[in-house]
Amino acid sequence: MFMTNPFAELSAHISPAIQQGYVILMAILVAGGTILDMMHKKSAKYFFENAQKAKKSAKREVGAGEKAVIAVKVLADEVLTSGEFCNVKRRISHLFTMYGTVIFIVTSAIMIFQYPTPDTPAPGYLPLLWHIGALMLCFGGYWFWFGIRVDVAAEGTKWYHLVRADLFILSLLATATFGLLWSFGLSSGLGRLTTLFFVLFVISSTTLFGSVLWSKFAHMFFKPAAAFQKRVIMADGSAENLPMDYDLTDPEVQKRFPDIAEYMGNNPAYMGKGIRREAPNHY
Ligand code: HEM
Repeated sequence: MFMTNPFAELSAHISPAIQQGYVILMAILVAGGTILDMMHKKSAKYFFENAQKAKKSAKREVGAGEKAVIAVKVLADEVLTSGEFCNVKRRISHLFTMYGTVIFIVTSAIMIFQYPTPDTPAPGYLPLLWHIGALMLCFGGYWFWFGIRVDVAAEGTKWYHLVRADLFILSLLATATFGLLWSFGLSSGLGRLTTLFFVLFVISSTTLFGSVLWSKFAHMFFKPAAAFQKRVIMADGSAENLPMDYDLTDPEVQKRFPDIAEYMGNNPAYMGKGIRREAPNHY
């Protein structure tokens, strides 16, 4: 099972040209859904207006070189290692889901376009990676669904409580799960059950790529831009007009806020962020 290219097996029933057309259609749906999403929510307009507003309250100019360094930091931290997650379990589960998805989608496209039939056999590592990608996605995704999402302590959400935003994670999980079951059916000769798994695989993946306008799919494109902007406003000192993270022992800060010394002494202890002091579990 792990070494078999399921799309080459499929070519006996569905021609490679149709399979390739499907992949192209899905790519168009993702691009179209993302653009419509931006137009509908006016997120790009808001994003640029907000960036202009922040520039006006900037305390210093951030040059092109510094912006390039910030972009590299965003890539290394927020994008490649899911650094935005404070919760370690959520971070690990996101890493599995994200890398699993990328490996699963990229190897699917390579096998469909480069090795479409049994006459053009794919190197063994490609189907192996396809299965590993799907398993990683399932591991991270089911962990998130049953172990992390339901444990949103402040809300006490049950795993069966569905909202529209769940369309993304559920269609993603269904795509990987039915893809694996379809491949298992092919290698075990499950007959009609294999066809059923394949039909469910196509329905799930069409839902995943066709529902970008309504799901959280596009976050993978928007989040890096938002993370970049967040770092720029800290670097230029505008901080969205919020107070900076003051060092209470700094004499300059004490001069500005004299009641610090009055109530906490000249050398106040650093007590951390109040919001992180206690887990939100009082629901
Ligand atoms: C193939 C790429 C990716 C996949 C499959 C993926 C998957 C997911 C999933 C399943 C969730 C949970 C959604 C939910 O609450 O229902 C999530 C949330 C999140 N992702 Fe990703 N992600 C990807 C790329 C990225 C990238 C590139 C970033 C950041 C640069 C990012 C940042 C986040 C953040 C901050 C959250 C939590 C906040 C939220 O739910 O909006 N993700 N992601």
